[in-house]
Amino acid sequence: MDQSPDELEIAARGLDVSEALQLPGVVDIIRAKDVPGKKVRTFCGYHEELLAESEVSCIGQMICAVVADTKAHAKRGAAAVKISYEDLPDPIFTIEEAIEKSSYFKPQRMLERGDVTEAFKNVDRVYEGEIRIGGQEHFYMETQSMLVVPVGEETEFNVYVSTQWPTLIQDAVAETLNIPSNRVTCHVKRIGGAFGGKVTKTSILASISSLAAWKTNRAVRCVLERGEDMLITGGRHPTLGKYKVGFMNDGRIIAADFQFFANGGNAADESPLVAEKMVLHMDTAYNIPNLRGHGAACRTNLPSNTAFRGFGVPQGLLIVENMINDVAMVLGSPADKIREINMYKGPSTTHYKFAFDPENLLRCWDECKLRSDFSARHAAIKQFNQENRWKKRGISIIPIKYGIAFSESFLNQAAALVHIYKDGSVLVSHGGTEMGQGIHTKMQQVASRELHIPASKIYISETSTGTVPNTCPSAASFGTDANGMAVKNACEILYQRLEPIRKKNPKGTWESWARAAFMEKISLSATGYYRGPDLCVDWEKMEGQPYSYYTYGVSCSEVELDCLTGDYRTLRTDIVVDIGKSVNPSVDVGQIEGAFMQGLGLYTMEELNFSPFGLLYTRGPSQYKIPAVCDVPLQFNVYLLPDSDNPHAIYSSKGIGEPVLFLGSSVFFAIKDAVAAARSDSGLKGPFTLKSPATPERACLACASPFTKKVPASKPGSFKPWALDV
Ligand code: MOS
Repeated sequence: MDQSPDELEIAARGLDVSEALQLPGVVDIIRAKDVPGKKVRTFCGYHEELLAESEVSCIGQMICAVVADTKAHAKRGAAAVKISYEDLPDPIFTIEEAIEKSSYFKPQRMLERGDVTEAFKNVDRVYEGEIRIGGQEHFYMETQSMLVVPVGEETEFNVYVSTQWPTLIQDAVAETLNIPSNRVTCHVKRIGGAFGGKVTKTSILASISSLAAWKTNRAVRCVLERGEDMLITGGRHPTLGKYKVGFMNDGRIIAADFQFFANGGNAADESPLVAEKMVLHMDTAYNIPNLRGHGAACRTNLPSNTAFRGFGVPQGLLIVENMINDVAMVLGSPADKIREINMYKGPSTTHYKFAFDPENLLRCWDECKLRSDFSARHAAIKQFNQENRWKKRGISIIPIKYGIAFSESFLNQAAALVHIYKDGSVLVSHGGTEMGQGIHTKMQQVASRELHIPASKIYISETSTGTVPNTCPSAASFGTDANGMAVKNACEILYQRLEPIRKKNPKGTWESWARAAFMEKISLSATGYYRGPDLCVDWEKMEGQPYSYYTYGVSCSEVELDCLTGDYRTLRTDIVVDIGKSVNPSVDVGQIEGAFMQGLGLYTMEELNFSPFGLLYTRGPSQYKIPAVCDVPLQFNVYLLPDSDNPHAIYSSKGIGEPVLFLGSSVFFAIKDAVAAARSDSGLKGPFTLKSPATPERACLACASPFTKKVPASKPGSFKPWALDV
């Protein structure tokens, strides 16, 4: 076969595309050497290759991209690409292996309040424990999708893309093609779910797609199949938490020391920030006077993990609450009592020396106990468990204090562009992306309120880098806070401009004012801008203000567990959330219900399985169980805390996208409570290990019935010799 020198070179590196190129419909194959600009995306100071060139460091890393006229031809082409690999000498898959080899992404973060080492000397008891929490697939309804269209006689591109951050896509495409950003326009109509998975990972796929469009001068569409998406794009970080806690016999926790290890995968992405957020949230609702935490993102040979609703907080706080549960079990006290004893009370400061008032957190707690009829049901469960050997019920009540906004201050800004047309219709553009969270509905409400016109006159067509430039991602539960203020600002300017027109004709209609303003040569278009809060943390001094304010919530869940099968049902959940004065309660209740269910999935069902060689087995809904309608609590009550204000956000509202996901852990701890009752019948008392997700297999084995003891385990606590605990 005659090969060009160029192809020989590639073949020498183990990549042979010659056969694939011959196949019908295959137009081209895109390789790293085709990139005219930057071949890497840089996050947290680390480079990530768009297409692997120097080394393949995980199964699922992209090496080249086949461009074809149909999807079937593209798939056949991809299958015909020949790649030969040499095994990595010493791959790292698990967190334990990473710890052993000190394989971390920098920086690691540490915060301490009080003097933890000293405090351990003067406590009644000390307990050490650990818990592992598995990762989570985003399972957005729409997989990663994009269409790159070359336009015009200049090098110019329109990118239609499912992303939370159009500006990042624009910059990534421009950098890859080595063209200025003003030649790339990104359009986002709406996104079929994102949950954090369409920030950084999308930019790499968009860079590759744009490269294909540029090289072939054709419109190129890239839509990942579900299995590819699950394999390639990573998800929530599997996390291992270790802790040591010192406490008094009356339940007061005097000292706690945490270590959070997140499995970051083969590229840094946002992993150091995820580990950082665990450390920033570790005090949660509790005023532990001596508190220390250390967070590290591990570099491993798994696909790189990324942002996922809650950004580390759902993992970090499961570890903290598990520690509290252990304390309760050591003391033989109800866990809710230990939680109450240790909660922040009255004006307080966090472990990063930020002053706040936990009043609304405590109100949520009291309200949730009341609404859920906690005491009576707690007693009824005791009774039920005495009368039943193989079915057990459990209950738990769990709080959250969640910091809203980006601790990277520059990400808190937002802008908007509002046009009034001569017929009085209004077109609003803003930097936020609509991914089902209802931001466009809320922005319409803001414009309606500021312009004093019905929402029916206001339209939002899309989010585009051509109308509002240099935007920040819709993330960190901050989309409405930031963009709402920007839309408000633009509308205020326009309303002000129309004032002389209104004065002249106070009885006129909105439409008549719009037309009159045009006739009098008044501009009917305005941009709005919001600077956002200035937030930062001084990690040396261990102090700062990383968040604008806190959203509080409390959830109480009850489950019934079949101890012989591990099957469980959530009988009832009551959630009380403080979201200030909601801009749109029905949208927000939907967010609360959805986030709770996503948390329930994380902690009790969704399980990623990796082979001993780091291959993700679970690449579709038949292998990876996400919650369905039948998993919704039989009784599911959501209450918004009344009479709450928030001076820090638009119309006194609060961000709500992420906080409630963690409250899904109330189901995990209810299962654990039911398991504890079963163990007690087997004569077992005190703390025990239950990994997350608490799947039926794990719950059943943890019950330690005479039957499960007959099941041989290959290693302690493991029931899957074919899969890794990553
Ligand atoms: Mo979100 S995890 O802040 O994209």
